[in-house]
Amino acid sequence: MIKKTIIITGGLGFIGTNLVKKLEKKYKLIIIDNLCTNKKKYCQFSKNNFLIKKDINKKIKLPNRDIYALIHLAAKGSVIDSIQNPSENFLANTMGTFKVLEICKDYNIKKVIIASTGGAIMGNQNPPVDENSLPKPISPYGASKLSAEAYCSAYAYSYGISITALRFSNILGPYSWHKKGVITKYFKSILDKKPLVIYGDGDSTRDYLYVEDLCDGILKTLKKKLVGFEVLHLSSGKETSINNLIKKIFKITNTLNLKVIKKKARNGEVNRNFSLNIKARKKINFKPRYSLDKALIETWKWFKDFSINA
Ligand SMILES: NC(=O)c1ccc[n+]([C@@H]2O[C@H](COP(=O)([O-])OP(=O)(O)OC[C@H]3O[C@@H](n4cnc5c(N)ncnc54)[C@H](O)[C@@H]3O)[C@@H](O)[C@H]2O)c1
Repeated sequence: MIKKTIIITGGLGFIGTNLVKKLEKKYKLIIIDNLCTNKKKYCQFSKNNFLIKKDINKKIKLPNRDIYALIHLAAKGSVIDSIQNPSENFLANTMGTFKVLEICKDYNIKKVIIASTGGAIMGNQNPPVDENSLPKPISPYGASKLSAEAYCSAYAYSYGISITALRFSNILGPYSWHKKGVITKYFKSILDKKPLVIYGDGDSTRDYLYVEDLCDGILKTLKKKLVGFEVLHLSSGKETSINNLIKKIFKITNTLNLKVIKKKARNGEVNRNFSLNIKARKKINFKPRYSLDKALIETWKWFKDFSINA
């Protein structure tokens, strides 16, 4: 049977690496990545995959014209970096998405999935949020994702492309050594026996989802016939405070007597956030299977193994 071809931008990053491993048996993959956030590849992919090592903002020539779908993950994903350098963030995320949509138009790609965000787009509002909540970003990163969604909506209806924006919550799992989120930072601090840092009082909350559940949701979206522009939240629907997360991490890693330092809360980071996933359950039968404890155990295993060779 001939395999369908799928493009994955950002396919060498954290989520991309997990997704490529999941999809490469069933599909022929074209990966576009400039290796800007993650300088090394985590693992060997199938030789049948085609890698285009290029910035999505540059002119890209695809090796064939028969593309079934495109999954757009490439982005600069740090809220704090986006505050320090908003134009770099705009270029990668908003302009980058625009350029990717242009590729879809030029190559007649009719199915597109883009990675958006459930927390940063919403800003500070009372959780839980869902697809009907009014986005109000408080960081350039949130704004870049919201404007990217707007272009997706416009391209879906102007050019007859089925585009789904999947708003991810906070994702954890293997291949996230290079990331700047709390779970990576805390696991690295524990490995280095250094204090854990909390920005604020530790009562701020997030919605954590295991990468395997996320990739299942992306695969289900890929297989489902969706028309026009859709927004779906891929989240756990559960709220966890930083204080509670640290308790879980200490228990799972068997850590005793490691200091926790509190620093001033940082601008741009939302206070409380978690998202309902009712629409995703209805539309694509999204069903996360991993509890946060199980996800932390799996992720910690990977960090310990990886640290030996890092
Ligand atoms: N990880 C999370 O918790 C999370 C949460 C919400 C949304 N997202 C979104 O999911 C997507 C993937 O996130 P991730 O955690 O895997 O990030 P990541 O940084 O690990 O991966 C992004 C990849 O995109 C590549 N890239 C960045 N800019 C590029 C450009 N201009 N041209 C070509 N390649 C480029 C990087 O080299 C990297 O390999 C991003 O769009 C991110 O905003 C992630």
